[in-house]
Amino acid sequence: MEFQFDEVVSRIGTNSAKWDGLVESMGKDMISLSVADMDLKAPPAVVEKLEAFAKHGIYGYTDAFASYYKAVQAWLDRAYQWQVPQEWIVFCPRIIQAVSLVIQKFTAEGDAVLIHTPVYQPVAKAVTLNNRILVESPLQLVSGRYEIDFENMELRMQQGVKIVLLISPHNPVGRVWTRAELERIAALCIKYDALIVSDDIHADFIHEGHEHIIIAKLSEEIAQRSIVCTSPGKTFNLASLEIANIVIPNDSIRERFKQALQQSGIHNPTFFAVPALEAAYTACDDWLASLREYLKGNIVYAKAFIQEHMPELTVIEPEGTYLLWVDCRAVSQEESGLKRWIEQTARMSVSFGSSFGPEGEGFIRINVAAPRSVLQDALKRIAAAYPLKKA
Ligand SMILES: Cc1ncc(COP(=O)(O)O)c(C=O)c1O
Repeated sequence: MEFQFDEVVSRIGTNSAKWDGLVESMGKDMISLSVADMDLKAPPAVVEKLEAFAKHGIYGYTDAFASYYKAVQAWLDRAYQWQVPQEWIVFCPRIIQAVSLVIQKFTAEGDAVLIHTPVYQPVAKAVTLNNRILVESPLQLVSGRYEIDFENMELRMQQGVKIVLLISPHNPVGRVWTRAELERIAALCIKYDALIVSDDIHADFIHEGHEHIIIAKLSEEIAQRSIVCTSPGKTFNLASLEIANIVIPNDSIRERFKQALQQSGIHNPTFFAVPALEAAYTACDDWLASLREYLKGNIVYAKAFIQEHMPELTVIEPEGTYLLWVDCRAVSQEESGLKRWIEQTARMSVSFGSSFGPEGEGFIRINVAAPRSVLQDALKRIAAAYPLKKA
C-alpha cells in the first residue's frame, strides 16, 4: 500500500505546539522544523479507529484491559525481541511524568541524578524542578561522533548519583548506544548502586548499521535496576494522545512506581489513547516500514543539500531518530547570530542548541519528519540567507 507522506497538511488551528505557537509569536510566514513530532498523518488504521471511537459519542471513564497489555507485549517482542510478562508493563500517560515520578519516589531532595548532555531539557528539568541535583556528564564530540566520556561519568557517579537518566537513542545527538557502551553504563550503575531510567521514546527510528538494545535486556542483574520507558508517541505521531508503557522488571520498584502514580492521581488512560496504541502496535507495520524509508530519504536529501549549499556546516551523522544535529559554529559561535540568520532572515524555525543546555550553543536541531517539499522549502530558505554564501 502507498502512504501519502508527501501530503502537506496545515496544522494551524489545531493547537499545535510547533505551529500555532509560532504563528502567534512570529507570524504566519514561518516554516517550522522544530518540536519533535511529525508533520505527517498518523497511520490510516489509527485514524480510522479514532474516527470510529469519536463517533461513538460517549467519552466516559476507560481503563487499560488485557488487549492493551497484549498489544504492548507483542510490540516489545516484535520490535526489540524483548519478551516481558504482562505484570511488568505499567501504563503512564507521558514519559516525562514517569521520569518525574521516579525521581520523586526514589530519591530525596538534594540527591544527585546523572544525565549525558547536551540533552532534551524536559528530562533534565524533571531533576531540577524536583529540587534534586542534576549531575551532567558531557558527551564528547570525537571525530564527528558523540561519545560518552566514561572517566568523567565515573567521577560524577562518585558524587553519590542515585539515578542515571539514559536517553536511548539520544536526543538531540542521534546516538544509538552500542552494546559495549550500554554494558559500561550498566556496570557503573551496579558499582555505584544507581537506578537506570532508560527513555527509549525514539527507539523505533534506528538507521542502517545500528541496533537498538534495551538496556534491561543485557542481564537479569541489570533488569532488576532498570525502568524502561517506551511509547508509540514518536513512532506513530500520537504524542498528544498521552500513552506510554513503563516496563519495570523488579517487583518492588514496580509497586513503588504504581504507588507514585496513584499518589499523583494518575490512573486511567484517556478515551482515545488505548485504541490508538492498539491499532498502531497491531496493524501498522507496513506503514512504519514505509515511513522509515521516507524519513531516510529526507535525511539523505537534507545532508546532501547542506553539504552542497552550506558546506561550512557539519551534520552529525544520525544513528537513530528523525532529528538532525547540525554544527553551525562556523557561522556563529553565538546563538544570537544563528537566530538572526535562520529565524529573522530565513523565516524558519528550528530548535536552537542552547535549548538542550549550554553545550548545545552553536548547534541547531532540524526535525526532518515533514513532507519532503516542506523540508526542501525550509532548507532553501536557510541556504538563501546563509551568511557564508559565496557571491
Ligand atoms: C527523549 C525524549 N523523552 C521524552 C519526550 C516526551 O515524551 P512524553 O511526551 O511522553 O512526555 C521526548 C519528546 O520530544 C523526547 O525527545
